[in-house]
Amino acid sequence: MERKDFIKNCGLLCMSGAFATTLLESCVSAAYVAKSTFSGNKISIAKTEFQTENNKSRKFILIRNEKFQMPIVLYALENSQYSALLTECTHKGCEVKPQGDFLVCPCHGSEFSKTGEVQNPPAENPLRSFKTNSDEKNIYIYL
Ligand code: FES
Repeated sequence: MERKDFIKNCGLLCMSGAFATTLLESCVSAAYVAKSTFSGNKISIAKTEFQTENNKSRKFILIRNEKFQMPIVLYALENSQYSALLTECTHKGCEVKPQGDFLVCPCHGSEFSKTGEVQNPPAENPLRSFKTNSDEKNIYIYL
């Protein structure tokens, strides 16, 4: 291998490594499933679940519950408000994926805001949402 090709290959390798790291970081943050407890019709989640090990804030967390096949996504809004949405697309039932401040359906491309409103068809109805409230330590989702 000539020196020029070696340098070119090293550059490509470094770029792909950086891309893979970025991709993995975004996947890890997107796939974070919070610890929660379920009692009666109420799911309880510690507010600390929104913190990463590096003390950064997550925009959203996923909650698994036996009542639903698909997870609930919980977004932290402003003024200690939260938005809890079932990740089942209202078009034909695929699982929508949180992408930062909005959710995208991989099946036909519908997009929803972090409060569940349709931003892009073909879905016509908002995502199913759940009432929430919180105290000093926990967030509660009412099913
Ligand atoms: S099932 Fe989600 S857009 Fe069709």
